[in-house]
Amino acid sequence: MAEKALVGILMGSDSDLPVMEEAAKVLKNFNIPFEMTISSAHRTPHRTAQFARNAEKRGIRVIIAGAGSAAHLAGFIAAETTLPVIGVPIDASPLNGLDALLSTVQMPGGVPVASMAIGKAGAKNAGIFAVQILSTADEKLHEELKKYRKEMAKQVEEKAKKLKAQIG
Ligand code: RP5
Repeated sequence: MAEKALVGILMGSDSDLPVMEEAAKVLKNFNIPFEMTISSAHRTPHRTAQFARNAEKRGIRVIIAGAGSAAHLAGFIAAETTLPVIGVPIDASPLNGLDALLSTVQMPGGVPVASMAIGKAGAKNAGIFAVQILSTADEKLHEELKKYRKEMAKQVEEKAKKLKAQIG
């Protein structure tokens, strides 16, 4: 039987998938069971509200919501659950994601959304941030995160060495 998802990834449209896949990749690398679906705050408000209301009962611990343009998806979900909601603003409009960033990050006081950066880096960080949240109650995951950071630092040092060898 498939493991119960701990993270729910939601996106407003299938056009958001190339960005939101970055969050999924991180969760796969850390072996975190997750689910991914499409639901829009304005096109399918009932479906989106149901998702948010039922998430906790179904065992979800963190929600990642990515959307472009007015991007009220993350805030809409946060209004319907007390689970932590991580918002990913997507560069899907003529404003290149600035619209989505502002509508994700500028939540009025009382109902927070953890807003990430615009686009793929934001989606990747949303995955890592979800792992960090889960790691506060999972020592093994915490150790894996520390290993991940060490590996990143090692890669930078290797690149610096390579550059030094090239330019002397
Ligand atoms: C938002 O509108 C979606 O999250 C997407 O980023 C954007 C455009 O959606 P499509 O017109 O491509 O379906 O709701």
